[in-house]
Amino acid sequence: MTEQKAFYLTTPIYYVNDAPHIGHAYTTVAGDVLTRWHRQRGEAVWFLTGTDEHGQKVMRTAEANNVAPQAWCDQLVENAWKPVWKSLNIAHDDFIRTTEDRHEKRVQRFLQGLMEKGFIYEGKYEGPYCVGCEEFKLPGDLIEGNCSIHSKPVEMVSETNWFFKLSAFVQPLLEHYKNNPEACEPASARNEVISFLEGGVQDLSISRSTFDWGIQVPWDTSQVVYVWFDALLNYATAVGLGEDPKSELGKKFAATWPADVHLVGKDILRFHAVIWPAMLMAGGIAVPKKVFAHGWLLVGGEKMSKSKLTGIAPSDITNHFGVDAFRYYFLRAIPFGSDGSFSWEDMTARYTSELANDFGNLASRLAAMIEKYCEGTLPAPTPSPELEAALKTAVDIADTSICALDFQSGINAIMDFCKRVNGYVTEKEPWSVAKDATRKSELDSILYNTAEALRALAVLLHPIMPATTEALWQSLGANVLGEIGSQKISDVARWGQLKNTRVTKGAILFPRLPELEIQ
Ligand code: ME8
Ligand code: MG
Repeated sequence: MTEQKAFYLTTPIYYVNDAPHIGHAYTTVAGDVLTRWHRQRGEAVWFLTGTDEHGQKVMRTAEANNVAPQAWCDQLVENAWKPVWKSLNIAHDDFIRTTEDRHEKRVQRFLQGLMEKGFIYEGKYEGPYCVGCEEFKLPGDLIEGNCSIHSKPVEMVSETNWFFKLSAFVQPLLEHYKNNPEACEPASARNEVISFLEGGVQDLSISRSTFDWGIQVPWDTSQVVYVWFDALLNYATAVGLGEDPKSELGKKFAATWPADVHLVGKDILRFHAVIWPAMLMAGGIAVPKKVFAHGWLLVGGEKMSKSKLTGIAPSDITNHFGVDAFRYYFLRAIPFGSDGSFSWEDMTARYTSELANDFGNLASRLAAMIEKYCEGTLPAPTPSPELEAALKTAVDIADTSICALDFQSGINAIMDFCKRVNGYVTEKEPWSVAKDATRKSELDSILYNTAEALRALAVLLHPIMPATTEALWQSLGANVLGEIGSQKISDVARWGQLKNTRVTKGAILFPRLPELEIQ
């Protein structure tokens, strides 16, 4: 029996020139939400993130700090990157570092294979290079001699090195995107890639001789592999690229590759939608099913960046709003694929109205009423055709939208259902019904239906806000149904699942925000 092919999602591997900011967290949280959603669809899932450690950008940062590059990377990975992902509740299955032996040896083997197939030749490169982007630039990419992304002068490079025959793949790539439009999304990103390809593409210099912080070219000890050629391969080396198909690792590769989604920011679209699939085509390996380029978080109208020191640390926001509100906010507020700006005011407004009032209050009112009117025991199941129908619609929209990486529409559908449940409680007025002892069964039914709706909300919001929904799950006594993370999306709309549970008042899910200090 062959193993079920996993839903395989990757984030970029980030440069370790500094600690993560909320731009990196944006991508990684989106990946975490999507993979948690697929897990709750009952699929096998593999979620990879990691760090990009070679190249001049990282090497120079290490030098500027008087630390050897490997030691620099080790301490940043252990003291910054991994702990930040942990604090944001990121449930990746693997974390790859490009300085790991498993990566380096597979990169070398892959490169050797391309050499033997005739896709690599020696040549001379001359042109402008941006170390911030780690990219050779074309004149059109520059604004008054500066990189248009980093607003810093480019450097002139003139070297003899090894070239990859990228130009040979222009036609196959155009065919690929014509036949598989879903392979590059959103449409604006695909159009950019297609017009870039139509404009003609030069062969790519894939090695450097002027510094040594990189993977050695296997047949030429005077050169190291170009950092992007090295980095892109992480997606495949991490799951066993080039290993014997009969070995455990080879089987892992077969059960994982090709990637279902490479999640990236639009700054690195071309690397992922042009160079990377061309490398794979040259190596005779399947290309990824989708590259999705999301927009930028902006500061003062420009891309927030480490290089420009405009990065906001995730903890600056989570210390005030909590981790789950952070995970929720960016996916809820910014259409995935568009740019967006973070503002304390907007986040405060959404926290208060959507999370604290619509969701948190519903949960605490329900628990308080069950305690007061039912001594903490959930009344017996009753049907609620209207709520059940509204829930079914919400689940359908959420599932379709989230699987299409339209997080905003997915979350909206779930939160609209939450509003609908609030409307139900307001309209039924259980506190008035409770005053009349002859209406006990009506009261029980209102409370049951509200609890059942909250069960569904907990499951649907779990991928987005894992800790808060877990607390709600406990408060509903829903652990008798199993762990919240193993509840299936396909089953969530079935009414009548909570039975005979003990409902307890837990901590407030979204407490009042502390006074905001003047920034
Ligand atoms: O490019 N808004 O690493 P990197 C949204 N090592 N997302 C942002 C962002 C912002 N302002 N700033 C960063 C590299 N990101 C390479 C990748 S992959 C084989 C190698 C996110 O540290 C976004 O995902 O510069 C962007 O593409 C990525 O971080 C760039 O991270
Ligand atoms: Mg960058």
